[in-house]
Amino acid sequence: MNIDTVDWNTLERLRSEFLAAKGNTGVYWKSPSDLAHYQRFFAARIGWKWDAALLQARQAGWQLQSRRLLDWGCGSGIATLRFLDTFGTDCLDEVVLWDHSTLACEFARNAILERHPQIAVSIANPSSLDSLDDTICLISHVLNELSLDARAELTELACSAKQVFWVEPGSHLSSRLLLNQREAMLERFHPIAPCVCAKACPMRNDDNLRHWCHFFAKTPMEAFMDGDWAQFAKIMEIDLRSLPYSFICMDAQSLASVPKLDGHSRVLGRPRQFKGYSKVFSCDANGLSDYELQKRDDKPLWKSIKKGKDGSLYQWTDIDSGRIRSGNSAKEKCS
Ligand SMILES: C[S@@+](CC[C@H](N)C(=O)[O-])C[C@H]1O[C@@H](n2cnc3c(N)ncnc32)[C@H](O)[C@@H]1O
Repeated sequence: MNIDTVDWNTLERLRSEFLAAKGNTGVYWKSPSDLAHYQRFFAARIGWKWDAALLQARQAGWQLQSRRLLDWGCGSGIATLRFLDTFGTDCLDEVVLWDHSTLACEFARNAILERHPQIAVSIANPSSLDSLDDTICLISHVLNELSLDARAELTELACSAKQVFWVEPGSHLSSRLLLNQREAMLERFHPIAPCVCAKACPMRNDDNLRHWCHFFAKTPMEAFMDGDWAQFAKIMEIDLRSLPYSFICMDAQSLASVPKLDGHSRVLGRPRQFKGYSKVFSCDANGLSDYELQKRDDKPLWKSIKKGKDGSLYQWTDIDSGRIRSGNSAKEKCS
């Protein structure tokens, strides 16, 4: 279902629901039109975050190794749509959707079948959602809508999957909620991205509580040339240029082939620019570090980090007293 005329009241109501969400929200989708409006704007932004997160995972060498996909809390189905756009449908036998809104499940199924008529799409029976053999579990923008118990149940379910790909907003709160999920799943999973090691997350240390693991996706140019998007940004008070997200991609420890990122570092957030140098917040197996990178020390590296086009995975080849002297982007790891 597409929308001919935008109903801004619908979008404002949905936005209020999202902003007010503090766990245990009820079902707020009232009609297919709600979902079509969501799909046109909010989900489009989420889709750009998925594109960025999927690229980052692929840059880390991550591969799809499951034949079944479950999209939990699917909403309009954007996570699955972006996932299938990246990986195609040949490597999957089945897509399963789950949302406590039947309207959402049906909308998502139609949207997926419209774009990928060849893939089998079903709506889960909640009583059969207890074990996810050979399944990749996609989860997107749900954590702040769940009660503590619902989060724990979702963790348990995700723990039975073979692979988990989870994208949340890039706010301090959402990123920290996602971090809790990561820690709860570490016993059974290898984190593949954005983490470069399987140790406990250094963000948990008292010194690091003000920080959070997040990245920025790019809004495509078309959005800046479209009157509806301009109106959306104005009414919703959303800055289209800023698209922060958090994500975690994990493979079950039982999987034979898991990428190894020894010696790599992840650049978090946005590097801060100063005259002739940048400051880079870097995460690696030794924890979090705030490094300085002088343009004159390694100009290609400085440019790569400044432009942010090469992803966020790097190898620092020479570090001296908090100063990166040289390094490389790991973008070539992308399969
Ligand atoms: C903000 S929307 C995100 C939808 C979609 N995952 C996306 O990224 O666009 C949150 C979704 O989670 C669903 N949801 C919230 N609580 C849920 C629960 N306890 N069980 C299943 N779905 C839930 C809502 O119905 C809604 O579709």
